Amino acid sequence: MRKSDQCVLLAIETSCDETGIAIMQRNGDEMRPLAHAVASQIDIHKETGGVVPNIAAREHVSVLRPLLERVMREANMSREHINAIAVTVGPGLAPALAIGVQAARTLSYVWNVPIVPVHHIEGHVYSALLMSDKDLHDAHDLKANISNALFHALALIVSGGHTMLIEVSDHLRYRILGSTRDDAAGEVFDKVGRMLGLPYPGGPHVSALAQSGDAKKYKFPRPMINSGDHDFSFSGLKTAVYYTIRELSEKKLIEEAAHICAGFQEAVVDSLCSKSSAALRGGEFSVLLLAGGVAANDLLRKKLQRVAQHNNILLRIAPKALCSDNAVMIGQAGIIAYEHGRTVSWRDVDIRARVSIEEYALQTG
Ligand code: KG4
Ligand code: ZN
Repeated sequence: MRKSDQCVLLAIETSCDETGIAIMQRNGDEMRPLAHAVASQIDIHKETGGVVPNIAAREHVSVLRPLLERVMREANMSREHINAIAVTVGPGLAPALAIGVQAARTLSYVWNVPIVPVHHIEGHVYSALLMSDKDLHDAHDLKANISNALFHALALIVSGGHTMLIEVSDHLRYRILGSTRDDAAGEVFDKVGRMLGLPYPGGPHVSALAQSGDAKKYKFPRPMINSGDHDFSFSGLKTAVYYTIRELSEKKLIEEAAHICAGFQEAVVDSLCSKSSAALRGGEFSVLLLAGGVAANDLLRKKLQRVAQHNNILLRIAPKALCSDNAVMIGQAGIIAYEHGRTVSWRDVDIRARVSIEEYALQTG
């Protein structure tokens, strides 16, 4: 299936509020970014407390070209070195996706190289799948190795837009076992952060505050924990936190915020861990993967390690630098897809703002 043991891909990610560019090189079994950069729009979206799609798109337009030039310069690369362009085609915000796809299309035409369309969640899956187990805690080195890939894998993907358990039976073969019925895990972290007056995005602030809190002081529900399927639900938990906060005076809330964060974080992590554990017991898996923005959460990293130990299974967690959206992960998945022949002409690529990873994989063969 391999096209060659060496290739260089430009990777572009613009599905939400991070503009990511990476130059990825594959040499033998090893894959590494020759250079990469992410321009975050967090400061812009802080003012509105969330992402406004058209503002995100405008920002992608203004940073994409300078970022591309910088990364190409840092990688010491020119157009002749690039074999293909990997780009996130979905899911995500349509106006934001369109900027990355249009850039890829233009470069593909001018450079005369094919496009490798990548599903955003595939990127998250590969950010953990290709890591080695010993890099579990603090991998700063973004080198990945194709020979590390191990199947069947069970991937827990937790981000601001998605919470899902995916069976990965081979390269580019996915089956969704369960997903959230309402809010995503990162989304509830952000909403609870907002209720407490913390800056956007709330996730890192809630988890930092939780460190000094007592998780037992407020006992929040773990919705659907015994539902018998692999789906998640977080809106009941969010409502329970809301009612707790509403009962407290402003002064009392300041005193109690850390305990509320700790209790809430524990409830989310427990739900994620118990659902992962049940999915592991229900299938024949060789490795458990954790990736996505919420995978940066230390309590989740620690507790999922216990789940893996308990089930006697390997665990691979995306390096913290690759948890939030970036182009390195799109390049990793892109190299695998490129080698499996998933290339299209600039004429045939388009955004797929709502397609699921399972459906996408079936359509792209
Ligand atoms: O993967 P990502 O960058 O974007 C999406 O594809 O959605 O994930 C961003 C999400 C945000 O909701 C953010 O609050 C959450 O990840 N997040 C965290 C932590 N760091 C980021 N949530 C909990 N604990 C953290 N340490
Ligand atoms: Zn993401």
